[in-house]
Amino acid sequence: MKNCWIDIKKPILMLSPMAGYTDSAFRIICKQQGADLLITELISADAIAHWAKKTADIKNTPTYKLMEFQKAEMPIIVQLFGKHPEKFAIAAKWIEENLKPAGIDINMGCPAKKVVKSDHGATLLRDQERGVEVVRAVRAATKLPLSVKTRLGWESDDEILEFAPKLIAAGVDALIIHGRTYKDGFSNTARWDNIYKLKAQNSNVKIIGNGDIKDQKDIEEKLNNLDGIAIGRGTVGNPFIFNKLFEKLSDSEKLAIKKQAILEHAKLSCELKGEKGIIELRKHLLAYFKGHPRAKELRKMFVAVKNIEDVKSMLAAIDTE
Ligand SMILES: Cc1cc2nc3c(=O)[nH]c(=O)nc-3n(C[C@H](O)[C@H](O)[C@H](O)COP(=O)(O)O)c2cc1C
Repeated sequence: MKNCWIDIKKPILMLSPMAGYTDSAFRIICKQQGADLLITELISADAIAHWAKKTADIKNTPTYKLMEFQKAEMPIIVQLFGKHPEKFAIAAKWIEENLKPAGIDINMGCPAKKVVKSDHGATLLRDQERGVEVVRAVRAATKLPLSVKTRLGWESDDEILEFAPKLIAAGVDALIIHGRTYKDGFSNTARWDNIYKLKAQNSNVKIIGNGDIKDQKDIEEKLNNLDGIAIGRGTVGNPFIFNKLFEKLSDSEKLAIKKQAILEHAKLSCELKGEKGIIELRKHLLAYFKGHPRAKELRKMFVAVKNIEDVKSMLAAIDTE
């Protein structure tokens, strides 16, 4: 069987979704540094299904602003969360017809309290039957490539070996697997062995591994037999992780590239979100210079930036990596 997930040279290096961080501006920066594939943060299928009937109004909703993307971001996947198969189906169809992304992803891994309390996110990993129903509904509603982002299990690492074949039979083209269980949250280290095992048993499906990648060495060491790697926290302050050459550059070359990327990030944030974009940029600025010898002093500058001119003068005041 031919796999119809997004056709990218192997191995795929993708940005992992991070609500509150991976907006359009940051995604474009990651792409400019070499990310092969982007994805939106989790977006409510219920909200889209609600608004889908009134397409004229949807553009003014916060949900639309979260799923909107720029042409420069293609190929990009839109990630949905929810629990009702029929609402997922309406949302997926609406997205295919109106946004035309490269794919749809279903969130079955988010452990956040408010998400799990509503039986969304990682709950679909515990209620496997519902998870499978959701995949079937989305598969029937859209021709777009379909993936599920999930974890190893609810409480044990082996659950994925039983769950994944059911998702594959229901029609997913790819799985993005974070090597932790729901119970782990973000504690313990990511475990990749069952992700490799799954790939060895399912050559017809793309399998992307995820968890704790911090640098090029991690990428090389963890890839193994997989089709790709998704990087989340390791990109914050370091979208250069997608740039193979970056680590080999001198400190002054690194600083020059970093300053250029930060200015571009600021311009995009401002262009796409206005003043709100610059306020949201502040946490990225802190991350870009985490561990800098003058971090404490710079912090005061970062949390006060209000416009592009402030970002420019802040960058001019930094002369060491
Ligand atoms: C702040 C934050 C927000 C996240 N938001 C999402 C999300 O919207 N959808 C999702 O599937 N995973 C989300 N994740 C999980 C990451 O995509 C990723 O699976 C996890 O952080 C492990 O990978 P890492 O060690 O490379 O960060 C989020 C993680 C963080 C830290």
